Amino acid sequence: MKIGIDKIGFYTPNKYVDMVDLAMARNVDPNKYLKGIGQEKMSVADISQDAVSMAINATKQYLPKIDIDKVGLLIVGTESSVDESKSASLFVKSALKLKASVRTFEIKEACFGLTAAIFTAYDYISTHADKTAIVIGSDIARYGLNTAGEVTQGAGSISLLIKKDPAMLSINPQTSAYSKDINDFWRPTGSATALVDGKYSTQVYLDFFEYTFKNYQKQNHVDISNFKALLYHLPFTKMGLKANNLAIANLAERDAKKLTNEFKNSIELSKQVGNIYTGSLYLGLLSLLVHAELKLNDLIGLFSYGSGAMAEFFTFNIEAGYRNEIIDPYLILNRRKRLTVAEYEKIFTESLQAPIDGQSLVSDEQAGMWYFAGTKNHIRQYCEKS
Ligand code: HMG
Repeated sequence: MKIGIDKIGFYTPNKYVDMVDLAMARNVDPNKYLKGIGQEKMSVADISQDAVSMAINATKQYLPKIDIDKVGLLIVGTESSVDESKSASLFVKSALKLKASVRTFEIKEACFGLTAAIFTAYDYISTHADKTAIVIGSDIARYGLNTAGEVTQGAGSISLLIKKDPAMLSINPQTSAYSKDINDFWRPTGSATALVDGKYSTQVYLDFFEYTFKNYQKQNHVDISNFKALLYHLPFTKMGLKANNLAIANLAERDAKKLTNEFKNSIELSKQVGNIYTGSLYLGLLSLLVHAELKLNDLIGLFSYGSGAMAEFFTFNIEAGYRNEIIDPYLILNRRKRLTVAEYEKIFTESLQAPIDGQSLVSDEQAGMWYFAGTKNHIRQYCEKS
C-alpha cells in the first residue's frame, strides 16, 4: 500500500524584514546576510500569531478539499509550544472542527518534530487505511535582537495530509536515523528565545548529515546518482548549501549540476521566510514542487535535523498528481508588508511579553485568517478574522 503526502498547506505571518535593511541597521556588510547566510527576507510574527494560529491557517488552505470526517489523527510538531500541558493540537482540532474521535497530541524534538509526526502518521495509516492524518510543523524562531542568530529567525507553518494512495508524494519506510545527546541549541523552560552554540551546531548538522546519508545509501543499495533532488533542513539556506556541497563532492559534473540546480529550486521559499524550525525541511519540499520539473517516481532524498540532536535521512517518490495539488505559496508570501527595522524591533519586544489577562488582542491579518486574541481567565482564545 502506498502511503504519503496528499495535500500541503503553508502559512507565514503577514510581515517581514528585508535582510539588507537589517544588515544596514546592524552595521554589517549586506552580502554577509545575502550570500554568507543565504537569506533575503525573514517573516516576523507579531503577538497575535503563535504556533497554534499558524497551524490552523496552514491547514485551512486545503481543508475545503478534504473529508474531515476521515481524519483519525492530528499531530502538531512544535518547539514554540503555547502551554506546558495542553497540546497545541487541541486548539487546532477545535478550530478545524474535527471529530471528537480524533487521536491528537503535540510532539517535540526541536526541528525534527514534523518528521517524527510524519512517520507516526505513516504507521497509523498502515493499520487504518480508511483514515487520514493531519500532521503540522509550526514554529517561531527567536534568538534575540543583535544576536548572531538574529539573521536566522523566521516564522511559519507547514501542514500535511497523510493518506493511502497519495496524490503528491509516497513515503518510503526505510530510513537512516542517528541521535546523540549534545548541546548545540536549546531553549530552557520559561525562556522566549533560544540559546545556541552556533558554530558547533553547524558542524554537528554536517556530521549528522554525512553519517545518515552514507548509511542510507549503504543499507538500501541506493547511489547518489539515483536522486532527482536532495532536500535539507534549512535553518538558513547556506547551511543546506554546505550539506549539498558535501553530498556532491565526488560526483561526475553532470550529476553534480543536476543536484545543484534542484537545490536552488528547493531554497527559493526559505530565502524569503527564514527558519520555521519544524516546517523548514518541508518548506524546501514545497519550494521544489513549485519550481522544479518533476515526474512520476522521481526519487527525492530528505535530511531532517533537530538540535539536541536527532537526524534522519529518508526518501519520497513523486506521485502523478502532485502538480494539481499545489496551492501557490506566493499568494501567502506576496501579501506580506515590509517592516522597518524599528517596527520589527518593537514587534519583537512586544511578542516576548505575555499578554495582560482579559485584554483582547487585535490582528491586522486578512479576513478568514486565525489569530491569538489574548487570554481570558488565563485561557488562550483563538479567533477567525472577520
Ligand atoms: P556568524 O557569527 O554570523 O558567522 O554566525 P560568520 O561570521 O562565520 O559568518 C557566516 C558566513 O558569512 C561565513 O561563511 C562568512 O564567511 C560569511 P561560511 O564560512 O560559513 O561559508 N561572510 C560573508 N560572505 C559574503 N560577504 C561578506 C561576508 N562576511 C561574512 N561580506 C551562525 C552564523 C549561523 C552560526 C549564526 O547565525 C547562528 O548561530 N545561527 C543559529 C544557529 C543555526 O542556525 N545553526 C544551524 C545548524 S543547527 C540547526 O539547523 C537546528 C536549528 O534549526 C534548531 C532546531 O533544530 O530546532 C537551528
